[in-house]
Amino acid sequence: MAKIGLFYGSTSGHTAKVAEAISAALGEKHEVTIINMEDISSLDDLLEYDNLILGSSTWGQGDLQNDWRDPFSEMDEADFSGKTVALFGAGDSEKHGEHFASAIGVLYNKLVERGAKVVGEVSADDYRFKSSLALKNGKFVGLAIDEINEPSKTKARIEAWARAIDDSFS
Ligand SMILES: Cc1cc2nc3c(=O)[nH]c(=O)nc-3n(C[C@H](O)[C@H](O)[C@H](O)COP(=O)(O)O)c2cc1C
Repeated sequence: MAKIGLFYGSTSGHTAKVAEAISAALGEKHEVTIINMEDISSLDDLLEYDNLILGSSTWGQGDLQNDWRDPFSEMDEADFSGKTVALFGAGDSEKHGEHFASAIGVLYNKLVERGAKVVGEVSADDYRFKSSLALKNGKFVGLAIDEINEPSKTKARIEAWARAIDDSFS
């Protein structure tokens, strides 16, 4: 059983709901602790975990959700080597299709720079959008959820992703 810290930032509750569903889908096999980023005191709260699932919805034009702002700045000084991280987040692929779920890409780029092993890429075939910072070599570097336009796809997307990342944590 792996101990996993699941940290999320969510303004209108979509990413929060996805966080709960990911934890439920991972089931009893892992010990998952869910933490809202608005409740952490510093990035050190994240660094206590070797296994992380990090979520952020996308705001502005491809920006991180607000509660990530300060901890994200702290990442420049942090060492994520030895840590396994999976990423997810809610976005809007129609109205914000030029930056769809880009916050996942913002986190990805920084985490890789700081030495993390990022797992849980997802084929983009099932999505319609213009561009995204989370898209690398034709795949999303994490789980993108669109609760605005495609809520009926959310459950299956989460379950497939949870199955895919299940064995990545130890
Ligand atoms: C002002 C504004 C800016 C937004 N910018 C983006 C964006 O750049 N990319 C995107 O995918 N979604 C964008 N969205 C959509 C939100 O990410 C989407 O509503 C999401 O479900 C919010 O999740 P949350 O409730 O977890 O914060 C934006 C929404 C608003 C209202």
